[in-house]
Amino acid sequence: MSSVLQKPIIHDASAFVGMRKAGKLAAQVLEYIAPFVTEGTSTDELNTLCYDFIVHHGAVPAPLHYRGFPKSICTSVNQVVCHGIPGAKRLKKGDILNIDVTVIVDGWHGDTSTMFAISPIAPQHQKLMDTTKQALDMAMALVRPGCFLGDIGHAIQSLVESKGYSVVRDFCGHGIGRLFHDAPEVLHYGKKGTGLCLQEGHFFTIEPMINMGRPEVRILKDGWTAETRDGKRSAQYEHTVGVTATGCEIFTRLED
Ligand code: MF3
Ligand code: CO
Ligand code: CO
Repeated sequence: MSSVLQKPIIHDASAFVGMRKAGKLAAQVLEYIAPFVTEGTSTDELNTLCYDFIVHHGAVPAPLHYRGFPKSICTSVNQVVCHGIPGAKRLKKGDILNIDVTVIVDGWHGDTSTMFAISPIAPQHQKLMDTTKQALDMAMALVRPGCFLGDIGHAIQSLVESKGYSVVRDFCGHGIGRLFHDAPEVLHYGKKGTGLCLQEGHFFTIEPMINMGRPEVRILKDGWTAETRDGKRSAQYEHTVGVTATGCEIFTRLED
C-alpha cells in the first residue's frame, strides 16, 4: 500500500528511548563483525557470530524465520542487491559485500547495514560504495519536520545518476518501530515536494540500493536473493532514523 494511503505512526518520547537501545545494538553488531570479514571466511560463519552476539545481548535477530528467511543476517556479495542468505561460500579478494542487521530489543527494531571490502578491490567498486554512502548521508541530512519523502528520494536519485549509477526500484526503505516493516514506504527516487510530509515522531529506514549498471533485479530460486539482472555490482547502506523537532536522530549510528 502506498505511503499516502496508510498513515505512519507518530511515536512518543518513550518510543525514542526504545529505538535508541535497539539501534545502538544493531550498530554494535556491525562494529563487532567487522574484523571477521576477511578472505576465506564464509558468510554462514559471519551469520553464526552475529547470532551469538545478538542473543548474548538479550536481543532477537529479526530476520530469523521472518516470512521464512532462514538466517539471522543478510549477506549480499557483489552482484547481490539485497536479502542474500548466508552460506558456505567463502569471501575472496576483490569482493564487496553488504551485511544487513536487524535486532529486536524490548520489542523495538533497529535496522542497519554497511558495506565491507576484501582488499584489494577495484577503484570503481570503491567509488560505487563511496557514492552510495554519500547518498544515504545526504538523504539523512534532509530529514526534518516539513521535509517530503519525495525530497529524499530526489536527492538520492540525482546524486547517483549524476555519477552514472542507477537506483533499484524493487525495494525501498520502510517505517519501523514495534514492527519490522511498516508504513511509510521510503522510495530512493522521486520528485521534490511529493509523498509524505514528515512530522516529529516518524520512524523509518533509508537504505538505498545503487547499481553500477541497470536497475533491474531478479530473485533467485531460494525465494530471497535479489541480484542485478545485468550481473554488475550493487552497493547499499542503511540507517534507522527518527524525526525530531529540528532534524533527525540516527538510532543506528554509534558516537565516536
Ligand atoms: N533488513 C532488511 C531491511 O532492511 C530486511 C531483511 S528481511 C529478511 O528491510 F527476511 F530478508 F531478513
Ligand atoms: Co530496512
Ligand atoms: Co536492513
